[in-house]
Amino acid sequence: MLSKKATCKSHGQDSSYFLGWQEYDKNPFDPVANPSGIIQMGLAENQLSFDLLESWIARNQEISGFKKIFRELALFQDYHGLPVFKKELAAYMSEIRQNKVKFDPNKVVLTAGATSANETLMFCLAEPGEAFLIPTPYYPGFDRDLKWRTGVEIIPVHCHSSNNFRITDSSLEEAYKQAQNLQLKVKGIFITNPSNPLGTTLTINELNLIINFAINQDIHIVSDEIYTGTVFDSPRFISIIELISSKEESKNIWSRVHVVSSLSKDLGVPGFRIGMIYSNNDTLLAAATKMSSFGLISSQTQYLMSKILGDKKFIRNYVKENRRRLRNRQKILVCGLKKVGIRCLKGNSGLFCWVDMRLVLKSDTFEAEMEVWREIIGEYLINVCPGSSCHCVEPGWFRVCFANMAKQTLELAVARIQALVINFNAT
Ligand SMILES: Cc1ncc(COP(=O)(O)O)c(C=O)c1O
Repeated sequence: MLSKKATCKSHGQDSSYFLGWQEYDKNPFDPVANPSGIIQMGLAENQLSFDLLESWIARNQEISGFKKIFRELALFQDYHGLPVFKKELAAYMSEIRQNKVKFDPNKVVLTAGATSANETLMFCLAEPGEAFLIPTPYYPGFDRDLKWRTGVEIIPVHCHSSNNFRITDSSLEEAYKQAQNLQLKVKGIFITNPSNPLGTTLTINELNLIINFAINQDIHIVSDEIYTGTVFDSPRFISIIELISSKEESKNIWSRVHVVSSLSKDLGVPGFRIGMIYSNNDTLLAAATKMSSFGLISSQTQYLMSKILGDKKFIRNYVKENRRRLRNRQKILVCGLKKVGIRCLKGNSGLFCWVDMRLVLKSDTFEAEMEVWREIIGEYLINVCPGSSCHCVEPGWFRVCFANMAKQTLELAVARIQALVINFNAT
């Protein structure tokens, strides 16, 4: 009945990443109404600094009530977006990169979240059946966002625990060879910096490898930098555009580097659907701007956010305080798990830890990983994201989110994971 496009399996809806959410929805934890419900640790949401945004809104009722400007906002908007919003968004993107990169509002394309930005880039840069290389483990939503409607193929660049999941020359070469064996033309490499699910930033060495690789193979680089504002610890974040702007020999790749960002993670407003593409490629900018009419940000949201982002003092304070809160939360999780011998990859960013649960695996297989995942959700009432759904090649790793719940809930979740490990050791 339906088209092949609509029913195509590459959406990834049956992945344990989405199945875990369904389980959670059947029995969600609530400290008062349902204390024995499932705690959601599979959702990379930031709820730690809502109070700051709420108090800004309370202080600025005239703006947030849209009283004077209702008619103007309600009328038709063109797909270029409100100029004042683009200006403030560009300034914010520079600010969270410590002003090491200057964003030009004329090179920004607005999209409905990073989801839409990533898909738009795939539409613009590759034909159906062409490929992008993506380091693993990666955000499970990419199978849907990059492949499903565009027909673009993903070739994994496999990274390993032996070097803390760093990207190497040989892993890039191997992936490129795999694409050639499959007779797929490689159009680019897609990186996530800071990484979801690793919670780490890419090193200068990795970024240089990627830039040189893209120059040699004459391909694009897409850098999803949606977690930039969540970097709470050293080493500091380095954007790919900071690096290419500082190098003379990188000038010939200038027009093939495209950055994606959004306000979903650092400002914790995924429901507002605010995303962007940033590029130095005029042809790409023109095509992506035309495409953005399929996923615009409402003018009401643009207006409100232009005022919030325009309050520089507030934003500077927000970014600093939010980072401090994230650092504290991550510490609770890392220290709690360490007490029962569970190690997390050393992270400096993100809303999650990449947790090594190999200790509780009955065998070194993905079947054993799924068994542990089912036990965690069914008996210990926590939804986490198994590494296999992030295309990790080593069984036993899990992404565990820490920023979408109250501190007491996180402490309870840690106690539940500790109980799992203690009970496993006792059997
Ligand atoms: C790496 C990455 N890119 C994109 C997205 C989608 O973000 P948005 O809510 O802005 O569409 C996510 C969401 O989790 C993500 O982790």
